[in-house]
Amino acid sequence: MPERLQQIAACVFDAYGTLFDVHSAVASQRARCGDVGEQISALWRAKQLEYTWLRSLMGRHADFWQVTGDALDYALDAFDINDAALRDDLMQAYLTLTSYPEVTGMLEKLRSGGMKIAILSNGSPPMLEAAVRGAGLEALVDHVLSVEEIGIYKPDPRIYQLAVDRLGVPAARISFQSSNAWDAAGAATFGMRVVWINRFGQRRERLPDGPDVELQSLDALPDVIGL
Ligand code: LAC
Repeated sequence: MPERLQQIAACVFDAYGTLFDVHSAVASQRARCGDVGEQISALWRAKQLEYTWLRSLMGRHADFWQVTGDALDYALDAFDINDAALRDDLMQAYLTLTSYPEVTGMLEKLRSGGMKIAILSNGSPPMLEAAVRGAGLEALVDHVLSVEEIGIYKPDPRIYQLAVDRLGVPAARISFQSSNAWDAAGAATFGMRVVWINRFGQRRERLPDGPDVELQSLDALPDVIGL
């Protein structure tokens, strides 16, 4: 039985990898990616994140659509794939990623328990809007917050502050959920309560702060926050 978090007034979710399956884009084009599909998808994601961190450090922000496209170009090039139509189709698929199976039911439980619900993501507003609509989550999320309001990527503390400001809930009463351990560490350092959704059975990060709770999926979240 995982630890319970007390006095939570809002649940804030990372988007990509946490609510939405980033590997569902390549999976939707599996036949065209050959036997390196999983490797392309893994490299695409790794480069996408790396570019967010590097651009933030360099002071050269570009939105997540640009970064996602740059990362895909790198990944396709790394596998010697030169196919503009495939590139376009993968980018379009990124707009309608599949949500994880437990997401809708879990959000419905939080909502009926009176919890404020937000997404806080690197995604640009059009990307997040498309993903939320595509997964049919519009009626279940109160705020969709994008780093574009600030112009820098996670884990800059100003991003987590955006959720505090917009929700009007102090960090200590926010439960932040991410499958990205580095994002979980960023939110914990900022002062939120943190649930790491360790979907991929990863080892814990060696970073200054870590999550309060570790789950394998979002299924048990309502229980963890006492609903
Ligand atoms: C996001 C990335 C970190 O949605 O997955 O912010």
